[in-house]
Amino acid sequence: MAGCKRIAILTSGGDAPGMNAAVRAGALVGMSLGMEVFGVERGYRGLLEDAMSQLMPTDVTSILREGGTMLGSARCKEFHQKEVRDKARAILAKRGIDGLMVIGGNGSLTGALHLANPDELGSQQLKVIGLPASIDNDLGYTKLCIGVDTAMNTIVEACDKIADTATAHDRTFIVEVMGRDCGYLAMTSAIAVGADLALFPEAGKPPEKIVEQIVNTIVTIRKGNRKQRRVLIIKAEGVAIPVDQLKTMVDARLKEIAPSSEPASIETRVTVLGHIVRGGRPSAMDRLLGSRLANVAVRALHAGVSHKMTAWMATPDLPEELAARSKYDPYVWLIDLQAVLTETDNLLSGKSPLSRWRVGAFDEIEDALLL
Ligand code: F6P
Repeated sequence: MAGCKRIAILTSGGDAPGMNAAVRAGALVGMSLGMEVFGVERGYRGLLEDAMSQLMPTDVTSILREGGTMLGSARCKEFHQKEVRDKARAILAKRGIDGLMVIGGNGSLTGALHLANPDELGSQQLKVIGLPASIDNDLGYTKLCIGVDTAMNTIVEACDKIADTATAHDRTFIVEVMGRDCGYLAMTSAIAVGADLALFPEAGKPPEKIVEQIVNTIVTIRKGNRKQRRVLIIKAEGVAIPVDQLKTMVDARLKEIAPSSEPASIETRVTVLGHIVRGGRPSAMDRLLGSRLANVAVRALHAGVSHKMTAWMATPDLPEELAARSKYDPYVWLIDLQAVLTETDNLLSGKSPLSRWRVGAFDEIEDALLL
C-alpha cells in the first residue's frame, strides 16, 4: 500500500464547531510526516473550481478556538453525477494530490466514497478518509461526531435561560433545536436540561398524537407535586409538524380543556434556536475530538489506508469484522466507510438498535419524575 505524499483537506455540508481543530491537526500532522497539505475552499464546490492552496503552519496555528470552518463549506448536490466527480478527480490528479481528508456528515462522506470508487478511478491513485462532523450526531458507528458537544452545550445554555423566564411567568415553552433527520440533539439536551418532554422524528408520531402528548404533559405537571412553575418541551426540527402550527393546536386544545384558565397558564411560547446551535467556539471536547480524529486520519493516509472513517469510540453494535482500533489512538477506530454509510441509513430509518434505544432513553430517565 503506497502511502500518500500530497493530500488535500476539505470541510463539507453543514459546518460544525471543531472542524477547524481537525483542519489544523490534519495540516500539522501531515506536514510533520513530510506530506504537502492543501486546503480546499468551500467543500466539493471549491474542489470543482480548483480553489485550493498549500497550507503552511502559520495558516492554521490560531484557528483551533474558532467556530465554523476556515476553509468554508458548501452543499454540492451535483457531486452525485459521475461526470462532475470525473472533473474533481482530474483536478486532483493534475495537482498530484493522492489523498483526501473529508470532514463532514452523511452527504459529504458519501461524496468521498464515490470519488474514490475504484471503478471510476481507473489507474488514478486517490485515497480517502472521512471524519464524522455533524452537530446532528447522525452517522453510524461513531459515538460522537465533531460539533455535537458544542451544539448540546449551546442548547443547554439557551434552555437554562428560557427556564428562568418560563418559571417567572409560569409558562410552557416549546424550544425547537436543529436536527433534520435525527433527534439526537433534542433527546440528549432534553435530559441535560431536565425538560418535561422531548419530541424527535424517530418516534414517528402523527401531529394529533404529538399535541395530545404535549397537552397531557402540561396537565400532569400543573396538577402534580413537582415544585416547578414551568413546562419545557424540546422539539427537533425534523418532527413533521411546524412549530407555530403545533403551538396553535396545543393552545386550542388547552382552551377546550380549561376555558376559564388565565391565559398565562394555558398559552405556550415558542423559541426556535435555529442556526445558533451550529455556531460558536468549539468546546474542549470538540477541539480534542477534531484533533484526535484528524491525527489518526492523516497517519492512515500516510500509511496508504483508504475508504475508512475515523470514529470516536465505536458504538457497541459494531460488528467485529469491521472493528479496527487505530494503533495511533486507543479511542479512535478506523471503520469501513461503506459500512458506516449503511449503518447511518439504519440509524436514520430507526432500524438500528441504537436508534431504538435513543427513542426510549428520554422517557426512561425523565418519565420517572412525572409522578
Ligand atoms: O448540519 C446539519 C443541519 O444543521 C441540520 O440539523 C439542519 O436541518 C441543516 O443542517 C440546516 O442546513 P442549512 O444550514 O443548509 O439550512
